Amino acid sequence: MTRRIILLGIFCQAFFASASRHVEHYTVFESLASGLDGPKVQPINATTFDWWYFDVVSTNPADLSTAVVTFFSTPPSAFPFLTPSNDITVAVLWISYPNGSLWSTASYADGATVKVDGDYTSGIWNNSGFSWASTESGYLIEIDAPDAGVTGTISFKTVAPPHYPCGPAEAGQNLELGPHIGWANAISDADSTVDLHIDGNTRFAFKGTGYHDKNWSDVTFGTHIASWYWGRGRLGPYSLVWWDVLSRTGAETFSAYAAKDNKILAASCAPGSIKVRPIGQNSTYPPVLSTGNPSGYRVELDLGPDGKLELDLTVLAPLIALNPEYARFVGNMSGSITCGKHTEKLTGMALFEQFKLTE
Ligand SMILES: *[C@@H]1O[C@H](CO)[C@@H](O)[C@H](O)[C@H]1NC(C)=O
Ligand SMILES: *[C@@H]1O[C@H](CO)[C@@H](O)[C@H](O)[C@H]1NC(C)=O
Ligand SMILES: *[C@@H]1O[C@H](CO)[C@@H](O)[C@H](O)[C@H]1NC(C)=O
Ligand SMILES: *[C@@H]1O[C@H](CO)[C@@H](O)[C@H](O)[C@H]1NC(C)=O
Ligand SMILES: *[C@@H]1O[C@H](CO)[C@@H](O)[C@H](O)[C@H]1NC(C)=O
Ligand SMILES: *[C@@H]1O[C@H](CO)[C@@H](O)[C@H](O)[C@H]1NC(C)=O
Repeated sequence: MTRRIILLGIFCQAFFASASRHVEHYTVFESLASGLDGPKVQPINATTFDWWYFDVVSTNPADLSTAVVTFFSTPPSAFPFLTPSNDITVAVLWISYPNGSLWSTASYADGATVKVDGDYTSGIWNNSGFSWASTESGYLIEIDAPDAGVTGTISFKTVAPPHYPCGPAEAGQNLELGPHIGWANAISDADSTVDLHIDGNTRFAFKGTGYHDKNWSDVTFGTHIASWYWGRGRLGPYSLVWWDVLSRTGAETFSAYAAKDNKILAASCAPGSIKVRPIGQNSTYPPVLSTGNPSGYRVELDLGPDGKLELDLTVLAPLIALNPEYARFVGNMSGSITCGKHTEKLTGMALFEQFKLTE
C-alpha cells in the first residue's frame, strides 16, 4: 500500500458533496507501520465518521472532577446522538465539577485539519477555538472559545504504551473492535492537568489521569452494534482499558489492555481475555433500551504474568445520559489481583460508558 496520509483537510458537507467525486474512498481496518492516530476514513459522508476523543478523570474518589473533549468529524446522520446540524466538524467539551455537577459546550468548526507525525497527530477544528497538538511527552489541547464559554488547556503526559484492539502499536494489526468499528488508542494512560476557565470567570482546574483514542466507521453507528461497555482507569500501578461489545448477531467481541511501568502486560482481543458485566441495580445482561443504567460493573481481566484481575466498579456520578441509548459515568474501582496463592487489593478511579441500541 502506498497510501500515506500526511495532511487531511475535512471541509464542510457542501464542499464534500461536490469534491467527493474526486476523493479516493477508503476505510482503514488494518494498521500500517505508523499513523496510529491519523485519519482513517475518506470521505466523511452521510454514513461515515472519524473522531478524536480525550478524557481526564480525577484520582480522588471524593473529587468527581472530569473533562472529556471530542473532536468530531461526522454528520449527525452517521452518529445519531449528536445535536442535529449541517456541520460535520464540531468540538464538544463535557466537564463535571468536584461535586459532580455537569457543564458542557459545543463549538462548531468550518473545517478541520489533522496532521500526522509518525503515530501522533495535531488537529485544528477551524475557527472553533479547539485544537490539539502532540508534544514531546504526549498531547496538549488548547481551547480559546470564549463564545462557547471556555478557554484554557488540558495536557497529557503519556505513562503507558499505545495500542490497537488486539495488540501493540505495530503494522498488520486488526483495527476492528466490533463489526465496522475501528479503534486506535494513542494514549492508554497519562498524567494530566486540566486548567480551564468556564463562562469567563469560574476556574476549573485539577490533576488526574488522562486518556486519548479515536474511533471510526464506514457505516452509520449502530448498524451492527447491540450494546457495548467501554472504560478505562488507573488501579494502583496498572493502566487499564476495557471493551466488551455485543453485535446485533449476538457475537461478543473483546479488547483487554493492562500496562504497568510503561510496559504492556496484556493487549488482547481473544475470547477470555476480558469480560464486563453489569452488577447491582439494573444488572440485566445483555442490556436493552428498556433496562435502566446499572449501579456498577464487574470486569475480569487477564493480566498475563501478573495474574487475574477482578475489578468492581461503582458508579459515583453520571457524566452524560442520552437516555436510553448512551450513558457515561465516573466511578471508583476496587480490584483484586490473584497470582497463585497471592492476592493483592488495589483501588482507583475510572471513566466508563455503555451503549444499548436494541430492545
Ligand atoms: C457544584 O459546584 C459548582 C462549581 O463550583 C457550583 O457552581 C454548583 O453550585 C455546585 N452545586 C452544588 C449542588 O453544590
Ligand atoms: C482554516 O482556516 C484558514 C483561515 O482561517 C484557512 O486558510 C484554511 O483553509 C482553513 N482550513 C480548513 C480545513 O477549512
Ligand atoms: C468512541 O470511543 C469513545 C471512547 O473510547 C467513546 O466514548 C465513544 O462512544 C466511541 N464511539 C464510537 C461510535 O465508536
Ligand atoms: C460513504 O462512504 C462509505 C465508505 O467509503 C461508502 O460505503 C458509502 O456508500 C458512502 N455513502 C454515501 C451516502 O455516499
Ligand atoms: C435503574 O433503573 C431505574 C429504571 O430505569 C432507574 O430509575 C434507576 O435510577 C436505575 N438505577 C441506577 C443505579 O441508575
Ligand atoms: C467506592 O467508594 C465508596 C465510598 O468511598 C465505597 O463505599 C465503595 O466501596 C467504593 N467502591 C469500590 C468498588 O471501590
